[in-house]
Amino acid sequence: MSAVEAMQAYYAQRAPEYDAVYLKPERQANLRQLEAWLPTQFARRNVLEIAAGTGYWSQFIAPVAASITLTDANLEPLAIARDRVQGRAVFVQADAYALPAELGGFNAAFAGFWLSHVPVSRRREFLQGLHALLAPESVVVLMDNRYVAGSSTPISERDAEGNTWQLRPLEDGSQFRVLKNFPREAELQAMIEGLGEAGVYRETEYFWTFQYLTPGI
Ligand SMILES: C[S@@+](CC[C@H](N)C(=O)[O-])C[C@H]1O[C@@H](n2cnc3c(N)ncnc32)[C@H](O)[C@@H]1O
Repeated sequence: MSAVEAMQAYYAQRAPEYDAVYLKPERQANLRQLEAWLPTQFARRNVLEIAAGTGYWSQFIAPVAASITLTDANLEPLAIARDRVQGRAVFVQADAYALPAELGGFNAAFAGFWLSHVPVSRRREFLQGLHALLAPESVVVLMDNRYVAGSSTPISERDAEGNTWQLRPLEDGSQFRVLKNFPREAELQAMIEGLGEAGVYRETEYFWTFQYLTPGI
């Protein structure tokens, strides 16, 4: 099984228990802050969401966006998202590394808790594929976890490329080795060099956000 397939398989199996991550008591205040902030970035925009999962974040974007298209490699989380996200939402099964060229008409993109699963060596490839579907001067927002000892799953190893890995159990007792990176601001700024502009990094205790614009014409 390839690394991409392994990540998909883990999240397909985790889908029914995924939303428990949003119930961690220590993260609630930060979550409320981000739930209020995120929609302000997407008002009246046509939003492409990558690795949308169960639609936890989509539910806050959908009411203010002109449209939202939720993509994910797995149908299991998208089925949960369908029940959760009301309004003009479209649901598409799609690999983040091979987004369907027929998707288009977007002037914004969001990926929550996805970049951390992209190997360092594939970050720019992922962004190039994403940007191919976006109009010039589109808003891109990435959001993800900061590593917080005692709250985050411990890092079990670091590979030669600089990726970090975790051993994650599911409720049935199975265990998965999962790539999970915790990039700093400088890495994110370097990642968009020549691909994006005006990168703004923010952090709360448990999360970071990074927003930028795709280049103008
Ligand atoms: C950490 S979850 C994030 C879900 C959602 N964005 C959120 O923040 O709640 C990662 C998601 O990536 C999806 N996924 C895994 N591999 C993928 C791939 N190659 N392309 C697109 N989505 C993928 C999984 O199915 C899962 O829903």
